[in-house]
Amino acid sequence: MQINSILRPCHPAILSLQTVKTMEKILIVDDELSMREFLKILLEKEGYDAMVAADGDAALAALGNNAVDLLITDVRMPGTSGLELLKQCKDDNLNLPVVMITAFASPDDAVFAMKQGAYDYITKPFQVDEIKTVVKNALKSRASIPEKPLESGQTSFQGIVGRSPEMGKIFDLIRRIAPTPANVLIQGESGTGKELVARAIHALSPAAGHAFVPISCNAIPESLFESELFGHVKGSFTGAVANKEGLLVQADKGSAFFDEIGELTPFIQTKLLRVLQEREFKKVGDTATTRVNLRIISATNKDLEEEVINGDFREDLFYRLAVIPLRISPLRERKEDIPLLIDHFLEKYSRRFDKNITDISTYARQVLMEYDFPGNVRELENIIERGVALEGSNIILPESLTLSSHRKDTTTDDTSSGDTRPVTAPFSEERLFDIGLEKIMAQTEKRLIERGLARAGNSKIKAAELLKISFRSIRYKIKKYGIK
Ligand SMILES: Nc1ncnc2c1ncn2[C@@H]1O[C@H](COP(=O)(O)OP(=O)(O)OP(=O)(O)O)[C@@H](O)[C@H]1O
Ligand SMILES: [Mg+2]
Repeated sequence: MQINSILRPCHPAILSLQTVKTMEKILIVDDELSMREFLKILLEKEGYDAMVAADGDAALAALGNNAVDLLITDVRMPGTSGLELLKQCKDDNLNLPVVMITAFASPDDAVFAMKQGAYDYITKPFQVDEIKTVVKNALKSRASIPEKPLESGQTSFQGIVGRSPEMGKIFDLIRRIAPTPANVLIQGESGTGKELVARAIHALSPAAGHAFVPISCNAIPESLFESELFGHVKGSFTGAVANKEGLLVQADKGSAFFDEIGELTPFIQTKLLRVLQEREFKKVGDTATTRVNLRIISATNKDLEEEVINGDFREDLFYRLAVIPLRISPLRERKEDIPLLIDHFLEKYSRRFDKNITDISTYARQVLMEYDFPGNVRELENIIERGVALEGSNIILPESLTLSSHRKDTTTDDTSSGDTRPVTAPFSEERLFDIGLEKIMAQTEKRLIERGLARAGNSKIKAAELLKISFRSIRYKIKKYGIK
């Protein structure tokens, strides 16, 4: 019991001093009188209608008698605890965001509460600006929760195409978690659409008007990570010729998307954990602290739980990043999405290449249905893109699904690299069935990348430009195929 509770008035239940109907009503629950009053005064100054309750039971009574828009509650209180109160609100289906107040020393309470459906948390001691932002966002989140549940059988959501039960669950999760500021960890094989999902979460969140900042964890060397992430002040190290704004500042009020989070070195993991715990950091060479308010969405194609078990990824950081874990299945485990995706990409690339390709042959469709797509949706997209580019008729035939062969007896469109192999030679079905699509695609991709590199004088950046793929993608493929 807090010392302040002895100061509580005899009938502390509810003190509602201001009840202007149009104002948003916030219920503050804390057993500590000074804390209740501090929050009440602060929030009233901000123009809200603030009510207070001194314990969980009083809060439940107040919730029963008032249309409350936001609940702010201490976690640890005698009697009904903040977590029980949260659970009650969820059980009763009260559509109101709940913000938890936790002691600085017990951040795990906060993570736990978020998992139970709390909207956000504020840590004691308070930062006035932090409270104002959290309250504003929490109230805004009410407005942005789409009222309408997803239609059953919906086949696309925010540009994400799919009709498998797995994708249905992803659509639903995105819709429900987007309005909250909870950190999200998206796991899935390469090309399953992790970035697409991350962008959808941001687009549907109250932070949609602010930046979505992708941060490629594997593209930034450890020595530069701090200065990239936190920024630096001029003169803080050789080469720091001007002040630099870090990526986290760019993402302030928005979302930072940490891609390939599993690649973070232990040193950087520790740095990031501190930012997540304290929501502040120091720029390299700066003495002042910078506060940011952002949501972290991260993605990885590694099994991060396994990395934690192996000791390669910090467990405490994992739990902070994975408040909401989300896993996207590989395409081979949700084949019913393949026909939809084929149609989606056919339309996209027909339009882009200004062609009138309306369908893909039944046989070509079948080949794709039987393929297991190690590169997932990205690979399917690439296959269709190439198919549309190569196809002369208005229907994609199996020949256009594959790009090249080993035969050296056909003409070539490119001799500059000394490679006389055709890029687009169609080849026989026997060959396709003999070797199998997967191997042929892999060989083809490998050879085309080698050619791109040869043409670009071995510059990965130039080769990526020539091949119209991202630098990250070419680097990944070079590694995958062991290209020297
Ligand atoms: N369900 C989907 N509907 C439509 N397009 C999709 C879907 N899933 C993936 N894509 C497309 O596939 C490509 C790859 O998706 P994305 O970059 O999001 O994958 P990723 O999981 O982040 O891959 P990586 O791990 O390699 O970074 C993108 O062009 C994306 O638009
Ligand atoms: Mg990605």
